Amino acid sequence: MNVLLIGGGGREHALAWKLRQSPLLERLYCAPGNAGIAEAAECVALNADNHGEVALFCKDKDIGLVVIGPEAPLVGGLTDDLEAAGIKVFGPSRAAAALEGSKGFTKDLCAAYGIPTAVYHRFAEAGPAKAYARGQALPIVIKADGLAAGKGVTIATTLEEAEAAIDACFSGAFGAAGARVVIEEFLDGEEASFFALVDGVTALPLATAQDHKRAFDGDKGPNTGGMGAYSPAPVMTPELCARVMDEIVWPTVAAMAERETPFKGVLYAGLMIKDGAPKLIEYNVRFGDPEAQVLMMRLKSDLLPALVAVADGKLGRLALDWYDDAALCIVMAAQGYPGAYAKGTEIKGLDKASADPAVQVFHAGTKRDGAHVLADGGRVLGVTARGKDIREAQSRAYAAANKIDWPGGFFRRDIGWRAVARG
Ligand code: AMP
Ligand code: GLY
Repeated sequence: MNVLLIGGGGREHALAWKLRQSPLLERLYCAPGNAGIAEAAECVALNADNHGEVALFCKDKDIGLVVIGPEAPLVGGLTDDLEAAGIKVFGPSRAAAALEGSKGFTKDLCAAYGIPTAVYHRFAEAGPAKAYARGQALPIVIKADGLAAGKGVTIATTLEEAEAAIDACFSGAFGAAGARVVIEEFLDGEEASFFALVDGVTALPLATAQDHKRAFDGDKGPNTGGMGAYSPAPVMTPELCARVMDEIVWPTVAAMAERETPFKGVLYAGLMIKDGAPKLIEYNVRFGDPEAQVLMMRLKSDLLPALVAVADGKLGRLALDWYDDAALCIVMAAQGYPGAYAKGTEIKGLDKASADPAVQVFHAGTKRDGAHVLADGGRVLGVTARGKDIREAQSRAYAAANKIDWPGGFFRRDIGWRAVARG
C-alpha cells in the first residue's frame, strides 16, 4: 500500500519511522516532511490547505491511506474532502475534529453526557466574561475557543491577568479562535496524556504517556507544545486507565456517534489526575507531540493495519502488542522557544547521537542544506531512547542528547523526573 502522511514535525517523523517498518507498506510520501522524515519517506511539497491538490496527488500516486498528523488540516475538513473523492483517511471529519477545534463544544459535550471536567462558562463578549471571572476563585483559566497553536490558554493568578487574557482574546490576539472564550476552574493535580484509537464505534486504548509542558527544568517557565515525554506513565495504573475509558472515552465515542458525527482517528485526552480520579482538561484529535515519539518506540505491532482498521471502521477485536521497555523523549528546541527564536543554526553530531541502537533521533523542525542539517523550527529534535525502565531510557536519551553539537539549542535536564521519583 502507498501511504501519504501529512505533517512535518517530530510526531510525523515517529509515525513515518514506524510505518516504514510495515511489510504492507510500498511507497511512503510525506507532505511537507523534514530532513529526518526524508530518510523514511519521499517528502513532497503539497499544500495541505488545498484539498483538491492533495486529492489529485493521491489519485496520481495510488495512495491507499492518508494519515493526517496535525490538528489544523483535520479541523479544516481535509478528511471530509478526501473521503468524498474516494480516498481512505486516518483522521476525523471536520465535525468530529470539533473536539479539539472548539473547547466550548467539548465542554458542552462533557456537560451533556456527565463527563468529568472543570466547571466552566462560555462567553461571546468581554463584559460578561470579566463579570464572571470577578466572582470566581483564583487561579482561573481563560481559553480561546478555537485553535491557537497552543497559545490560547492563560492560567491567571490575579484578576488583572484574567481581564488582560479576556481582552486579548476578544481583541483578536488569536484571530477567529478567540471570538469565543471558555472560562473554567483551575484543576490541581498531575497531568497525563491518554490515547485511544477510535473507529466511530469501538475504542482501543494505547500505551500511557506523560508530557512536560513547561519550557524549563522543574516545570517552570512558559507553556510549550511539549518539551519531553515518556511511556509508560506510572500515574496511569490499570484501574485509572479503566476509569478513563468508562467515564471519559466511551461516553465521548457514544455521544459523537449519537450526534451522527462519529469520531474516527486517535482521540487524545489531556487529563488531570487528583486523588486517583481523572478529569478531562481537553481533547486533541491527533497523536501528541512528543508523546507519539515514545509510543511509536514502544509499539511492537505493525501500525499500518491498525490505522487502516480505524479508517475502515473495523477496529473490532484488533489488539496491539507493546514492548515492555519504557521510552523517553527529550525535545531539543531553538534558544528562545516558545518565544522568538532563530532559524538556520547548524546541528552537528546527529550520527554520533543515534549510534546506540536503543536511540532514535526524531526530527521536528529541521531542513537539509547540502551536507548540513539546519534548525528550522521552535522544537527541532526529539532524542528518544528505549530502556528496561524509565531511568535507563532517560540515561540513554541524555547520553545521546549530550552528543549533539548544537549551540543554538537547549533542552530540559529533568525529563522523566516524576516517574523516576516514584521509583
Ligand atoms: P490545553 O491547551 O487546554 O491543553 O491547555 C494547555 C495547558 O494548560 C494544559 O496542558 C494544562 O497544563 C493547563 N490547563 C488547561 N486547563 C487547565 C485547568 N482547567 N486547570 C489547570 N491547568 C489547566
Ligand atoms: N504534547 C502536547 C500536544 O501534542 O498537544
